[in-house]
Amino acid sequence: MNKQTYNNRLKNNMHVDELNHLTINGVSTVDIAKKYSTPVNVYDLTLIKDKISAFKDAFRTYESKTQVAYASKAFSSLALFEWLAKEDVSLDVVSGGELFLALKAGFDRERIHFHGNNKSLEELETAITEQIGCIVVDNFHEITMIEHLVNKYNVTIDVLLRVTPGVLAHTHEYISTGQADSKFGFDLASGQVDKAIREIQPIEGIKLIGLHSHIGSQIFEVEGYELVIEKLLKRARDWRDSYGFDLQVLNVGGGFGIRYTEEDTPLPLEDYTIAIMQSVRKHSKQNNLKLPEIWIEPGRSIVGEAGTTLYTIGSQKTIPDIRKYVSIDGGMADNIRPALYQAKYSGVLANKVHDTNEEKVSIAGKACESGDMLIWDITLPEPVPGDILAVFSTGAYGYAMASNYNRLTKPAVVFLENGNDFLAIKRETVEDHLKLENSIKNWK
Ligand SMILES: Cc1ncc(COP(=O)(O)O)c(C=O)c1O
Repeated sequence: MNKQTYNNRLKNNMHVDELNHLTINGVSTVDIAKKYSTPVNVYDLTLIKDKISAFKDAFRTYESKTQVAYASKAFSSLALFEWLAKEDVSLDVVSGGELFLALKAGFDRERIHFHGNNKSLEELETAITEQIGCIVVDNFHEITMIEHLVNKYNVTIDVLLRVTPGVLAHTHEYISTGQADSKFGFDLASGQVDKAIREIQPIEGIKLIGLHSHIGSQIFEVEGYELVIEKLLKRARDWRDSYGFDLQVLNVGGGFGIRYTEEDTPLPLEDYTIAIMQSVRKHSKQNNLKLPEIWIEPGRSIVGEAGTTLYTIGSQKTIPDIRKYVSIDGGMADNIRPALYQAKYSGVLANKVHDTNEEKVSIAGKACESGDMLIWDITLPEPVPGDILAVFSTGAYGYAMASNYNRLTKPAVVFLENGNDFLAIKRETVEDHLKLENSIKNWK
């Protein structure tokens, strides 16, 4: 392969320096691997900022308000939340844990949205007493709990209803019937949304401000969002006329696709925003509705490509005429996505990016599981033990889904910006695990 082929794999702000080493945002990844050891997750903060701006800038032409809420399930850390708190962005949290971290980070409560299909009474109590921006109500049980809490504390909370709109996005396909079979939200087709609106409207402490829908992830087209907007705005007119429900906010979720490998061809982020705005304008007008605020909640499209994982190459095994396995010092414990849903990744050897003595290898994780394969069949300059493998686009649902399988410890997380590095999360140690363990020797 020529140099250009490796360069095509690189993301924004990645370069190859005079030592043939990969740099990200002005920092040598080889130096990072030496300084923090491996595996280590690095995040390019400038790229995160640029992704947020791409959504926000396109929204500037919209005639009503907009919110970009980062779906923090993709990756959360105290430092990230503190840093995001200073950006013009909202935060979608899905558990008491994420909410706790957001509050600890001093994130503006008004800009926190709370999701989840089985929020506990305690989680809702925190959301309500802390007076966060809104709760995205998922089911009837939750309505009962929120009613109890707003009465108990004599407060009001804004809510959106999570709607299962009957639109399912596969990456390249939308099906608009029969997708009611989801654990999330109120089903549109069977009248659950109508019933929920009827239930909520008379409750004084619950202010129903809008609707929410999320149709899937890694979506490369705009049609699914347009279909949802059309469906919901058509019904919003009936709900206004029948129940006095004034749709102030339409949240169309996240799911905007990113480039994991050279085969992925995602749309520019502003294309989604523009299509969503156009569709909302069109269907609001057609249904004689006030233009609602538009909210979105991207996760992977904000942090996915900004994240890179650095591993050290270790053992190898060549099976003649079949394949060469090259093992790294991490794998499914720090990135479950390939094992969980055959996710594909790309990367380079960070310490010799443009070397030409190439071969096709498969990258194996170190967990005791034959399914722990990070990348099948990737062409790299002949890897030898000690080389640094940089795997790209690991920023979303990588560290966030990491486990301690095989008692592996979670990697360190390092932020990069303008030539500087910052240790955001320390590497976990086996002693950290012991903090939760009790010795049975102390029993009885
Ligand atoms: C309700 C909701 N919103 C937003 C997201 C973020 O999706 P993505 O990271 O693909 O943008 C998800 C992902 O599961 C979700 O369930």
